[in-house]
Amino acid sequence: MASPILELDCVSKNFGGLKVIDSLSFKVMPGERIALIGPNGAGKTTAFNLISDFYHIDSGRIILDGRDITTVPSRKRIAHGIARTFQNIRLMPHLTVLENVMIGQSAHNGSALAMLQPINLIPGNRWRAHARGALDAAGLGEYALAAAGALPYGIQKRIELVRALLSEPRILLLDEPAAGLNPSETEDLRRQLIEISRRGVTLIVVEHDMHFIGAFCQRVIVLNFGCKIAECSPHEAQADPQVREAYLGSDDELGQAHAA
Ligand SMILES: Nc1ncnc2c1ncn2[C@@H]1O[C@H](COP(=O)(O)OP(=O)(O)OP(=O)(O)O)[C@@H](O)[C@H]1O
Ligand SMILES: [Mg+2]
Repeated sequence: MASPILELDCVSKNFGGLKVIDSLSFKVMPGERIALIGPNGAGKTTAFNLISDFYHIDSGRIILDGRDITTVPSRKRIAHGIARTFQNIRLMPHLTVLENVMIGQSAHNGSALAMLQPINLIPGNRWRAHARGALDAAGLGEYALAAAGALPYGIQKRIELVRALLSEPRILLLDEPAAGLNPSETEDLRRQLIEISRRGVTLIVVEHDMHFIGAFCQRVIVLNFGCKIAECSPHEAQADPQVREAYLGSDDELGQAHAA
C-alpha cells in the first residue's frame, strides 16, 4: 500500500495564548484531492502557513515522504515540492506578470531575485522561455509584460497558480482558489485543477464553496477552533450534525444551507 506523501502529527500552534491549531493530525496520500474546510477563523489558513513554514509550529511533526521536515525552512520545502497560493493574493504588483511567475522558479533557479539577473532578462533565456510557455499554456500570454497589480482579480489568481506550478510542486496548497471568481471562471479553475491532479500533483484545497468541493475533492478534513472535527467524503461532511453545527451562525455556504 502507498505511504502518505504528507502527514501532520499532533501539530499545534498558539498566537498569544490562543490555540489556533490544536493537536491536528491527518495524512494525505499521493495524488489525492482533499479539502480543508471549516468556518471563518477555524485555522485553515494557519494550517497552510504551518505546512509551508510561513509560521513555525509550536509542537508536533510535519512529515513529507516519511521524512520529518518540521525544522526544514520554507524555501527548502518549496524545493522539496510543496507550493501554495494565498487567500489574499501575494503578487508583486509593480513587477510584470512574467517576472512574478519566474519567482516560482527560484527554488530551482538560484535566488528569489534570479529573474532580475541580467541573464534572465534575455528573451531566449531558458527559464524565461519556460515561464513564458507556462503563461501561454494557461491562456495568460497576452499579460506577460503587464504590471501584475493592474490586472483584474480573477487574472491575478490565475497568475498565482502559474507561479506555484512553476516551482514544480508535488503538493499544491490552494487557499480559497474559487473565492471571488464568477461561475464560468470557477468551472475553468475546476477543469484546470483536475488536469493538474491528473499529472500526479497532490492537491489540498481550502474552500468555502461546497459545490466546488463536491465536484472536485475526494475527501474533506473539517476544522473548528483549530481541532479536526471530521474527516470524510464531501457528501458525508454536509450531512454531519457536528459539522453543520460548527457552521451555524457563520456566513459560510454550509451554514446558509443549514439555515435554509
Ligand atoms: N499572525 C497571527 N497572529 C495572531 N492571530 C492569528 C494570526 N494568524 C491567524 N490568527 C488567528 O488564528 C485564527 C485562525 O485564523 P485562520 O486565518 O487560520 O482562519 P481560517 O480558517 O483561514 O479563516 P477564514 O475562513 O476566515 O480564512 C483566527 O482567530 C485568527 O485571528
Ligand atoms: Mg483563511
